[in-house]
Amino acid sequence: MPSSNSRKRKPSKAKAVRKARKTRHRYTAAGADKYELYQKAVQSPEGDVPFLERMFERERGRPALRLREDFCGTAYLSSHWIARSPEHTAEGYDIDPEPVAWGLEHNFKPAPARRSKSRPRSKSKPDSQASAASVAERFEFHLKDVRAPSPRPVDLRVAFNFSYWVFKTRHELVEYFEAARASLATDGVFALDLYGGWEATQEMVETRRCGGFTYVWDQKSYFPGTGEYRTQIRFRFPDKTEFVAFDYDWRYWTLGEVRDALLDAGFREVRTYFEGTTAKGEGNGVFRASLRGENCEAWLSYLIALR
Ligand SMILES: C[S@@+](CC[C@H](N)C(=O)[O-])C[C@H]1O[C@@H](n2cnc3c(N)ncnc32)[C@H](O)[C@@H]1O
Repeated sequence: MPSSNSRKRKPSKAKAVRKARKTRHRYTAAGADKYELYQKAVQSPEGDVPFLERMFERERGRPALRLREDFCGTAYLSSHWIARSPEHTAEGYDIDPEPVAWGLEHNFKPAPARRSKSRPRSKSKPDSQASAASVAERFEFHLKDVRAPSPRPVDLRVAFNFSYWVFKTRHELVEYFEAARASLATDGVFALDLYGGWEATQEMVETRRCGGFTYVWDQKSYFPGTGEYRTQIRFRFPDKTEFVAFDYDWRYWTLGEVRDALLDAGFREVRTYFEGTTAKGEGNGVFRASLRGENCEAWLSYLIALR
């Protein structure tokens, strides 16, 4: 959501943006697909999934296989997770049927089977029907509030892109974290992200070019007395058209507040991972465990809560 520039740290969305730049499309507001543009501009599961796998293995000495993605929207992360191996499973939770339907259509459809006239299909290779069955068995969408329990314990539960900021009171936040802890296997891990730095609460607009369109992140208002935090994502196009894709009505939570709430919810330990910087002072996509982090205008951290 926020974007990287000098002395800023944010997760390496840069990789996703570079990828998008290679594929130029003629976008315009009319008919633009907000979920497609959101996935391109904001999400980078190709970076998140390896980070989560490495972190879990390091913390727990075994691979994580069963994922729960809260506030999953189109479940883009889950779709990358289950692609790692036939043993990986995922469950996604979201209360809005629209992104869920979009995700099922675009992120979980198996690639069409390749037909070859010269070579008959091998019996040992799965065809598209088999892959579809395998995906259906390994991924479940739950049109439910994130506080709903999981059918069975998960290894890893994630809540990304600050979506848990939808909980505006400490009581609600701790209640959610307690539910998250209860869903985990005994050595399970809950991972969240958090955006901070002095720019995070400024009323400001940031734009970023993403092949064929511009991503606009608008921090519309912040009230220090209550923590109320209104933000918006818009997409702008070369023909000067623009549309509002998402409006967020959140509370801005600081890292210390979130860590305390996780500990009060019963997590044994909370570790923080901060992104390193390049020589130019930009985020380098490499997250390392660090208790204190570094004070700069915008940074992004993963919080890793151990059950
Ligand atoms: C910012 S999007 C997150 C999309 C994606 N997971 C990501 O990481 O970018 C927030 C999503 O949270 C969902 N949501 C908001 N409150 C929720 C709740 N209490 N339970 C489940 N989903 C909720 C919204 O419907 C929306 O799809």
